[in-house]
Amino acid sequence: MEKSSVLVAPSLLAADFLDLGNEVEMVNRSEADWFHLDVMDGRFVPNISFGLPVIAHIKKKARKPCDVHLMIEEPEKYAAEFKKAGADILTVHYEACIHLHRNIQQIKGLGMKAGVALNPHTPVSLLENVIRDIDVVLVMSVNPGFGGQTFIEQTYHKLQQLRQLITNSNAHALIEVDGGVGPENAGQLVKAGANVLVAGSAVFSSSDPEQAIREIKSAVQ
Ligand code: DX5
Ligand code: ZN
Repeated sequence: MEKSSVLVAPSLLAADFLDLGNEVEMVNRSEADWFHLDVMDGRFVPNISFGLPVIAHIKKKARKPCDVHLMIEEPEKYAAEFKKAGADILTVHYEACIHLHRNIQQIKGLGMKAGVALNPHTPVSLLENVIRDIDVVLVMSVNPGFGGQTFIEQTYHKLQQLRQLITNSNAHALIEVDGGVGPENAGQLVKAGANVLVAGSAVFSSSDPEQAIREIKSAVQ
């Protein structure tokens, strides 16, 4: 995967669902790199979003990789279905996986890139023994469940620790940051080690979403 410049992944959680086709086309046209798709089950997180059929529809129009962020319990039960729906990268939460190593192997065995997400309270050191198996580490910079929350400042320190772990382990994982990200903190996040920036409200609540994406990408160059 591309490592040299920052990737931007707009989160469709903040999109206009009555106008989803046009929202997908906007991302296709824009400088964004991935579609970030947030799946919530009302159990792992206190909110329910969307699931397989919506992702399958998005996939039909998407001309960029679909980065599916599962905020669900027992993600191993659904990995094959998400592959079928169109996931290119499938991310499970560390806190939702009893057999994380097995889950990572399952995702890769299905032909997807494997991501592991960490809640704000989960230390990066817990990934020490799987870091070389992971394609993406998703660092939550808000508590998962809702868009539009305030960025947690401790994330910068966590990103530095994760960058160190990846370097020391000679691993290749990309670092993705999710929650409260926008043009104002993009530069500092990349400086702290981020490779992929997820942005929901900063993109879709903007009067000019394509420009917002451009700003997030250029804030770091
Ligand atoms: C939150 C989701 C995020 C969310 C980010 O649980 O994982 O992807 O959409 O939204 P913003 O960018 O508005 O914080
Ligand atoms: Zn997300």
